[in-house]
Amino acid sequence: MKSDLAILKSTLDAAGAVTVLTGAGISSDSGVPTFRGTDGLWRNFRAEDLATPQAFSRDPRLVWEWYNWRRELIASKQPNPAHHAIVELERRTGRFWLITQNVDGLHRSAGSEKLSEIHGNIWMVRCTACGRIEENRDVPIPFLPSCRQCGGLLRPHIIWFGESLGHEDLMRSTAALKQCDVLLVIGTSGVVYPAAGFAAVAKEAGAFVAEINPEPTPQSELVDLVLRGRAKEIMPLLL
Ligand code: OAD
Repeated sequence: MKSDLAILKSTLDAAGAVTVLTGAGISSDSGVPTFRGTDGLWRNFRAEDLATPQAFSRDPRLVWEWYNWRRELIASKQPNPAHHAIVELERRTGRFWLITQNVDGLHRSAGSEKLSEIHGNIWMVRCTACGRIEENRDVPIPFLPSCRQCGGLLRPHIIWFGESLGHEDLMRSTAALKQCDVLLVIGTSGVVYPAAGFAAVAKEAGAFVAEINPEPTPQSELVDLVLRGRAKEIMPLLL
């Protein structure tokens, strides 16, 4: 009898269209703390306490302090074998799309090109007054950074809780979910919507859905196959 790993490998080999959904778990193998893991808390705040427009208008300095902590952490990190395996999958698959909830930019650093960073990117900032978006790689960033164009307060260019995904990202991701033969769901706890509903969208449209995660998630019951383990160990074995 074939192992689950061998089944997924041959299913991927035969697939014309592959979509991958990633979460913080894929970057934990690079040393970036996940949001809901034990090392993800900063001064006892949860992501939901800080990654909101309300938290930013109440105390922008606190929110920028948190993002400085994450920027400092991420600045020294490198993509791991799971990020590289996804680049390889992109290269060899006819129709490929990567949807990531991660804002750390490690997929881009690895070389992924066909991707939607649906929650934004920690290295981008946006002016709360004029809306200008630009890259800013300062570490640390000043606590209350201002726009070079109009002097307005800058915020991280990240989709926070209570904010909608970008229209283009949502359209592109939905199309990739509905048109794929295989969806790989890697390293996400599957509790933050809309991404938490993406496995169901692909499954309903007829895709073979596989989860790679050391822990069970709310999606584990719904998917066709589960590989329990770390992304950096499993992903290279699939290629
Ligand atoms: P979470 O921290 O909620 O979940 C991380 C998942 O990765 C868990 O299911 C872990 O079991 C799994 N995991 C841990 N180590 C792993 C490894 N080595 N290989 C594979 N999986 C591993 O992170 P997300 O699901 O990404 O949003 O969280 C979703 C969103 O909530 C984030 O994008 C962020 C957060 O608040 C915003 O900041 C807006």
